[in-house]
Amino acid sequence: MPDDWTLSYEGYDPADERLREALCTLGNGSFATRGAAPETTAGPAHYPGTYAAGCYNRLTSTVAERQVENEDIVNLPNWLPLHFRCLGGGEAPPGPWFSPDDGSLLEYRQTLDLRRGTLTRRMRLRDAQGRELAVEQYRLVHMGDPHLAALRTEFTARGWTGTLEVESAIDGDVTNSGVDRYRDLNGHHLTDWHTGATGPDTVWLNCRTSASGIRIAMAARTRAVSAGPAAVRLLPGERRAVHLLTLPIGPGRPVAVEKTVALHTSRDPATGDPRSAANDRVERATDFAGLLASHHVAWEQLWRRTELDVPGEAGRILRLHLFHVLQTLSPHTAELDAGVPARGLHGEAYRGHVFWDELFVLPYLNLHLPEVSRALLSYRHRRLGQAVHAAAEAGRSGAMYPWQSGSDGREETQTLHLNPRSGRWSPDNSRLQHHVGSAVAYNVWQYCQATGDTGFLHGAGAEMLLQIARFWADSAVWDPAYERYRIRGVVGPDEYHDAYPGAAGPGLDDNAYTNVTAAWVLCRALDLATGLPAPRRQELFERIGLEPAELGHWEDVSRRLRVPLHRGVISQFDGYGDLAELDWDGYRTRYGDIRRLDRILEAEGDSVNRYQASKQADVLMLGYLFSPAELSALLARLGHTLDGDTWRTTVDHYLARTSHGSTLSGLVHGWVLARTRPAEAWKYVSEALTGDIADLQGGTTAEGIHLGACAGTLDLVQRGLTGLETRDDALWLDPVPLPELSEYRFSIRYRGHQGVGLSMRAGHLRISVPASGGTPIRVVVAGHDITVAPGRTRQVDLPRR
Ligand code: BGC
Repeated sequence: MPDDWTLSYEGYDPADERLREALCTLGNGSFATRGAAPETTAGPAHYPGTYAAGCYNRLTSTVAERQVENEDIVNLPNWLPLHFRCLGGGEAPPGPWFSPDDGSLLEYRQTLDLRRGTLTRRMRLRDAQGRELAVEQYRLVHMGDPHLAALRTEFTARGWTGTLEVESAIDGDVTNSGVDRYRDLNGHHLTDWHTGATGPDTVWLNCRTSASGIRIAMAARTRAVSAGPAAVRLLPGERRAVHLLTLPIGPGRPVAVEKTVALHTSRDPATGDPRSAANDRVERATDFAGLLASHHVAWEQLWRRTELDVPGEAGRILRLHLFHVLQTLSPHTAELDAGVPARGLHGEAYRGHVFWDELFVLPYLNLHLPEVSRALLSYRHRRLGQAVHAAAEAGRSGAMYPWQSGSDGREETQTLHLNPRSGRWSPDNSRLQHHVGSAVAYNVWQYCQATGDTGFLHGAGAEMLLQIARFWADSAVWDPAYERYRIRGVVGPDEYHDAYPGAAGPGLDDNAYTNVTAAWVLCRALDLATGLPAPRRQELFERIGLEPAELGHWEDVSRRLRVPLHRGVISQFDGYGDLAELDWDGYRTRYGDIRRLDRILEAEGDSVNRYQASKQADVLMLGYLFSPAELSALLARLGHTLDGDTWRTTVDHYLARTSHGSTLSGLVHGWVLARTRPAEAWKYVSEALTGDIADLQGGTTAEGIHLGACAGTLDLVQRGLTGLETRDDALWLDPVPLPELSEYRFSIRYRGHQGVGLSMRAGHLRISVPASGGTPIRVVVAGHDITVAPGRTRQVDLPRR
């Protein structure tokens, strides 16, 4: 990366192309398009993909002799195609369209400009007849208008005169085939294509998704500028709408072609017929220069709301992460009914589903784009009924949120998964990760603490929080043998353990993470229920049929849930300490990369369930969610003393037994170690930082970025290193030094103040509150209570740790 605001690639490398496509995706929170070359179609090296937030379709496939149903985010028609070739004049038949893979490239450079949100490609090529052409191409997906995208391509002939033929198309003949592991699954989501033209330079294509019936329309206007008269033909086909331009070209006479595209779906607010909406929008769109100018303004405003300055390479990567977070979840997302897709809108991995990963995303957004957080929580609230239904089906009360959520909030987790190493399909029990409910509750609480949005807290927020608490209280079963409540038959965040060795059925008992977060949810629900104004409380209780007597039971469960321990360590689950030790060194020597230990062991006919070996942070997630003081208090309430030594022993235990098969793992370990073993933290922080850019999980970034880890690294600076908490109407700070990341500056939005600045340098923490209105802010730094008035800056010299 040559400067702080760009990601550049020198030279063309087909082997790297799919990764670059994911990392160079452009989007606006409403839809996104992978950074694929417009001269290519889907193939081993290329995968053009366009995805709209919340646009899913359900299909049935046959795998391992079973019928399985999957809901996927739909790969929409490809708006990128722009093919070109040089014509020699005379009788010579035209040669093939240029492809970056045809050997004609002489030079290639690709630059993603984060500040301006554009992707530029510069290339020089020589075709089989020796004609040299320089091509410069700019692409944007408009951050101001959530329906527009544009591509401007400038061609310069080097030393020859003739004709250039350009084919601009919308290609509806696309499938979901971006993830190799899903190749046995049906990927034909689109049907009912129609194409046509409106006027001399605009073609359109519309179609719909086969089961969800979402209508999708794209219109493309292609115009030649700065050229002599162009011959234009419109060739609407069955699944492709094509626009063919023939342009005179010669040295000193560069030719530019501008393609402007509008996308509408029947899910868009304020839209009747998507086809006329797309046609109208493209017709009214200005030229590329105009679109670029308004696009820059929208990005400039967004960067102002998310200011983050970290020097060096870490800062550059953080900015790239922020860029992709904002392209997936922008203020436009707040207008939609969409959740947090775990892999961004950047690829088809995990089928665009919504997991607990929002736990790593919303705390960051709360302090910058609270309206987006609120909308993402509303996505969950609209699906509360479905979660209540799921709990009832499981014989429980309250709300059981699905591990994977899509369009309507039912459980979308696959029932079988493929181990590419063995080629075998095995049952997928990850749906037993009921802890996703605690993530929703945690986000409700954090959002309300950070914003002071009591309207939400007392309305939709309270409904979710109370129903999730109720589910936990009803899931906890009293076991007289332990004199404790137990939650049995679940899976914790570590997906490698889903059953006891040799057990007939899946599920584990007393997962510490599940139980401690359940206790926390019950406490917050009790705080809320008792703090609600009486009329609101009565109305709410009546609506959800909650009897005040249930609260007594919640109180009891919140104090007596079982947290298992073994040899002075918090056990991941009951019986974890009895599992075998894995020969970590042996496996590392044999396989090198053992992140996906589950696949290695399954291929050997073994199972991780037999070992003390985790995919990712599970118990240690507690140190990610809660400050040391809050965690000790929670455990004390549950009857355990958590002193520094017990926690450090627990950290060391799992650190030595985790394979980090999820990008979330490095992040959480880095976060936790920054407070317990600072000297070891950087290794994990840097793993979290480079996870996507260096594709550390072995090829998975090409299938979509890891949004949780991207946002999590931003939050690592914002909350992890500063110890920032928003509670009791104050900002609490308890910074920890991380030598490799000791300087940072960012601003947050806090309780009506836009731009509260926090900067750390040489052990000095400065807090500034903008002059514009508002009340003074109470800040508690490492135990000192101070007040910062509007327009003032306070500096705190931190004691050395
Ligand atoms: C992780 C989960 C995560 C999911 C989606 C999995 O690999 O184990 O914790 O929710 O990816 O990102």
